[in-house]
Amino acid sequence: MRSTNPVYTGLPMTVFEVMSRLAKEHDAINLGQGFPDVDGPTDVKARAAEELISGLNQYPPMMGVPELRQAVAEANRRFYGLDVDWQREVLVTSGATEALSDCMAALIEPGDEVVVFEPLYDCYLPLIRRAGGVPRLVRLEPPAWQLDAGALAAAFGPKTKAILLNNPMNPAGRVFSRDELALIAELVVAHDAYAICDEVYEHILFDGRRHVPLMSLPGMRERAVRIGSAGKTFSLTGWKVGYVTAAPALLDPITKAHQFTTFTTPPNLQRAVAYGLAKDDAYYRDLAGALAAKRDRFAAGLAKLGFGVVPCQGTYFITADAAPLRLNVSDVEMNRRMTIEARVTAVPVSAFYETAPPVSFLRFCFSKKDEVLDEALARLGRWIAG
Ligand SMILES: Cc1ncc(COP(=O)(O)O)c(C=O)c1O
Repeated sequence: MRSTNPVYTGLPMTVFEVMSRLAKEHDAINLGQGFPDVDGPTDVKARAAEELISGLNQYPPMMGVPELRQAVAEANRRFYGLDVDWQREVLVTSGATEALSDCMAALIEPGDEVVVFEPLYDCYLPLIRRAGGVPRLVRLEPPAWQLDAGALAAAFGPKTKAILLNNPMNPAGRVFSRDELALIAELVVAHDAYAICDEVYEHILFDGRRHVPLMSLPGMRERAVRIGSAGKTFSLTGWKVGYVTAAPALLDPITKAHQFTTFTTPPNLQRAVAYGLAKDDAYYRDLAGALAAKRDRFAAGLAKLGFGVVPCQGTYFITADAAPLRLNVSDVEMNRRMTIEARVTAVPVSAFYETAPPVSFLRFCFSKKDEVLDEALARLGRWIAG
């Protein structure tokens, strides 16, 4: 038999899949996978249902229905003061994941280097490599998740085509400061590179923080590609509706990649997301407010149990250091035992590193019902006491 493509061949099952299976087997509370356990707004779902029944269900326009592209352009103006031409600068995709895949296929040529931060969201490296790109990793480590400016600058070079930036950052719960963004922008301009910005958690920032798209910084309007996800903004992760904003010269090839990947996205979901994006400020405030309360509830519980809780500035993930519990096992083994014995599952943070990972940290998803978070803490409490 001829060989299959080496990027995907032999890739092990992701840790998310392994842990979710183990969680199911042991009837554990799964705080590993990142999704809310309650659906987002009922009126947005109702809108999708109405559109499904009364609207046309044939192929919508390849770039997305005009209502949603207009709504994305308007959201860019409303939240960030960005002036976006909805006809030439907005593309609808089947989730942020498709958008990322389209960006890699369209912007990266074999041998191009892509600067990317560890810890890494799981699809980044395979997508970069499948496009022929060479990842240049810049490490951030818990508990400080400090960005080393020198290391970042050193990762850029003559072969750099792009930086792939996740802000707010999963799994770190980290929001990059304006100064850090300015440094990234400076490096991107200096190296004549692009910035692919995965901003799916743009509306999940805490403690008065406001999201700053890299695209809004000087020099970035023509070089940044901004990616959002209705799955995160409306707590409807199964819908897989994403949107890309970029200057025409970048969006054109990305659109071509999209054309031959999914071509389009279910029209009823697109129209419902267009309706949702126009929701009033209270919706967005409440989304972040409710998650901040869950973060505080869960962080306090973890701290009481003896975990070293790492501050979370955005996203719905919190990192906790198990080292103070003195169990003297790796994060992978800790998580396995927690799943089987305590019946609570997280994700070992080492899974987000390619090499030399930190080995005592776990990532918990806290976008769950309060009673689920409380029960998880109670189970962990009994387990640790035992
Ligand atoms: C950083 C990041 N990017 C992209 C995605 C995928 O988004 P979507 O479901 O819209 O494809 C996720 C989902 O967890 C994520 O955490």
